[in-house]
Amino acid sequence: MMWQPIKNSSISLQRQIIHWITDQIQSGDWGVGTKLPTQRQLALQFNVNRSTIQQALEELKADGILNSTVGSGVFVANNSWNLLAKKTQPNWQKYIEESIHKPNYHTIQLINEYEQVDSVVRLGTGELSPTLLPVKKLQESLRHLSFEDKDFGYSSPQGSLKLRQALSYYLKKRGITTSPENILIVSGALQALQLMAVGLFETGSVVFQDHSSYLNSIHPFQSFGIQMKSVKRDEHLEQTLQTKKKNRQSIYYTVPTLNNPTGNVWTLDEKENLYNTCKELQIPIIEDDVYSELLFESPIPSIKSLDSSGQVLYIGSISKTLSPGLRIGWVVGPTPVINRLADIKMQMDYGSSAVSQELVTYWLTSGLYENNLIELKDHLMSRAKFVENILTEQFNSIAKWESSRGGFYIWLRFNDPIVTKEFFLKLLKRKVLINPGYIYDSEDANHIRLSYSYASLEDLKRGLIILYEESLSTIKNSCTP
Ligand SMILES: Cc1ncc(COP(=O)(O)O)c(C=O)c1O
Repeated sequence: MMWQPIKNSSISLQRQIIHWITDQIQSGDWGVGTKLPTQRQLALQFNVNRSTIQQALEELKADGILNSTVGSGVFVANNSWNLLAKKTQPNWQKYIEESIHKPNYHTIQLINEYEQVDSVVRLGTGELSPTLLPVKKLQESLRHLSFEDKDFGYSSPQGSLKLRQALSYYLKKRGITTSPENILIVSGALQALQLMAVGLFETGSVVFQDHSSYLNSIHPFQSFGIQMKSVKRDEHLEQTLQTKKKNRQSIYYTVPTLNNPTGNVWTLDEKENLYNTCKELQIPIIEDDVYSELLFESPIPSIKSLDSSGQVLYIGSISKTLSPGLRIGWVVGPTPVINRLADIKMQMDYGSSAVSQELVTYWLTSGLYENNLIELKDHLMSRAKFVENILTEQFNSIAKWESSRGGFYIWLRFNDPIVTKEFFLKLLKRKVLINPGYIYDSEDANHIRLSYSYASLEDLKRGLIILYEESLSTIKNSCTP
């Protein structure tokens, strides 16, 4: 029996006929150039008025799916397939563009893409070189782990109790007194920031930060309508915070020890100052402390260790000190905040990997973690020296920097504002990847965050020579009228 439209359907006869014709084209039964039956034949076949057929064909012609030549009839148009595919596919671009989360900056998308290319020299990567990861020891320690059946089920909202106990003991050695109830295990420090962004703020809240800030390169807060305000920590800080805060909810985000990207290390005085100022104004602090264990000199107490009023949310992670791939970090804070963040984490991922949590517990409790830190700092220190020697030989006349005090980075400041997107792309063409200052502060055209932690010494040297050549030629070009 030939297809016929349903007379008493809620879909009009014309629409049903349009669907039927497009189905014939999409299934390939009516290829490009197929001549359609006449209007009279179609009206007869579908048992409808000729005018209904005429309107359906007109609509398909207007969409470019059919075409007609006077006197020859109506045909399936050349481009009909593409047009139909577009018509039936959802407009994903619109979904993407109108969604809540901001995309990465284009420069960061390029960095993420080219970090996967083996021949590229990575002068900016904020990660330990694979040769600095204690892979063999990690593998070996897997054999010492003992699991109970329930360990392979979903984790508890706050994460493994054994790990939280081990952390509260470990943090005590670093001057932070806390208990397992005040610790939340997260899948890396980045997740801690994301949980805070969704769990603690209303739209229009204010996050204070340094001018050059890691947060500007990732957008966890910006995506939820939270305003980022960069402030200077000078003698007017209290006034500045008060004015910029207005009556809004606010928080101060900082990486006070071995800052990313600047490598800055605050003195204890500076930490006390910020703590007291924020306490006065009732502004909580997020202390992102993922690099502090990599300080080459003796530890400086964290802001959290000064916290007697539950004002500081402290973030730590093993990503920079042991392995970013295990995805283990932690938040220390007042119980209501920890419970709130744990509740959101359960809605997001039902807890962090059981194996990773067990492995990190073993490393913390066996002393392996602290022993590894000692070795790692030695390696990082000699890498830092290696890069600083090259800088002294080559870059003295065009840039300034401070000797690294730990962690991964040297904040290289060019005397001229040459670090633009064009400069980034020029280096990429020569297979050298940098982290330009403008991803941490959009106004900054002078800095590069150099990382000595990732590339091999050979690559660091090669990359720095290319960086020097491109810097010189950019400076020369900008001088010629
Ligand atoms: C300051 C800072 N906070 C947080 C993170 C995120 O670390 P994780 O790998 O633990 O998510 C990074 C990573 O580069 C960082 O530099």
